[in-house]
Amino acid sequence: MTEVSPGLENVYIKYTALTYIDGNKGIMRYRGYDINELAEKSSFEEVSYLMLFGELPDESELQNFKNQINKNLKLPDYMKNILKELPEKADSLGILQTVLSARSSVESNYKYSEKNDMEIIPEILGNVLSIVANIYRLKSGRDIIDPVPDKNYASTFLRACFDKIDDDKINAMDSALILYMDHEIPASTTSALVTASTLSDMYSSLVSAIAALRGPLHGGAAEGAYKQFLEIKTPENVEPWFNKNIIDDKKRLIGLGHRVYRTYDPRLTSFKKYADKLSTAPDQKNILEIAKRLEALGVKTFSPKGIYTNTDFYSGIVFNAIGFPVDMFTTLFGLSRVSGILAHIIEYVEKQERLIRPRAIYNGYDRRDYKK
Ligand code: ACO
Repeated sequence: MTEVSPGLENVYIKYTALTYIDGNKGIMRYRGYDINELAEKSSFEEVSYLMLFGELPDESELQNFKNQINKNLKLPDYMKNILKELPEKADSLGILQTVLSARSSVESNYKYSEKNDMEIIPEILGNVLSIVANIYRLKSGRDIIDPVPDKNYASTFLRACFDKIDDDKINAMDSALILYMDHEIPASTTSALVTASTLSDMYSSLVSAIAALRGPLHGGAAEGAYKQFLEIKTPENVEPWFNKNIIDDKKRLIGLGHRVYRTYDPRLTSFKKYADKLSTAPDQKNILEIAKRLEALGVKTFSPKGIYTNTDFYSGIVFNAIGFPVDMFTTLFGLSRVSGILAHIIEYVEKQERLIRPRAIYNGYDRRDYKK
């Protein structure tokens, strides 16, 4: 009998050599390399290259890749005009989606080929850095700029966002970009694959992914987790807040639980390290203490069901300590995810291409006579 799988749960649509996840043991690897080791020892450009082209780059491959990205930091005027014209209150991720959509509208005759990938990937990575940095600049009341190439992607990005930035924050941003780069095929990447499987262009595929990422069931958990900490206000209020909201009102604790993991999310190791290191101001220490107490209570209560902390519990603390407000968190997630999504598109379209076209089982009326 044909069965429906709501949410495509347990449906496999591709092979992948990109990200390996063992949800029971809490293991995550990119092309065989441990995720926390990559976050510590590599840069975003190196890991993007690994994901997109199969191996870590040698020095000249890396330099060439960086140069190609840096050539694309200056946005065309029409993108800058759209950034300026959208209302101040526009959603950050929605702005990214809109500007990428404008870029897709001027894409003509795009054909998938390895040659095109090499041209379009650095263009996308350079453009997206600049779009996200300028979204933040405009939202914080400053002018649009052309980012100036710095030592790596993370430092170019942060220097475009902030007047002052230190190495610890750059390293934390670089690690966050790597840790969020890919996670097999969640809803956003799957949306990109559906679009790419029609042989639409890369920008349109990316727009589909960003549109799916916007939903609160997907990209918004770091924001949700951080808002809980703000609502709790003091470490002493953690237990009463938990008992009222999570135990009595049966709300879900945001930042806990995952469809794949039945233990701690492996990306937490790095995020916790940076949360500890960067939370130096009194208000940041207060938030971190709230988070730690809340995590302890949550894990004690829900671990018997296999519910543990996920990466979004601490990533917002890191983004905030770098200097970003809560409404930028999901957009930073989007910035990190672009290379992973592109790598999946290439892997699917160039190696396993088949139009993604599932079926639905009809359960409506039988034939009816037409009457006015
Ligand atoms: N708080 C309290 N209880 C929870 C939580 C939570 N965060 N997550 C799951 N549970 C409970 C459920 O109530 C359910 O209990 P029951 O069996 O007694 O009914 C049990 O654990 C299993 O839950 P499911 O909903 O079946 O788990 P599923 O795999 O579908 O959900 C999800 C995963 C959506 C992430 C869920 O854990 C959740 O809502 N978490 C909070 C939101 C969140 O942090 N999202 C980020 C995901 S990670 C990421 O995007 C990087």
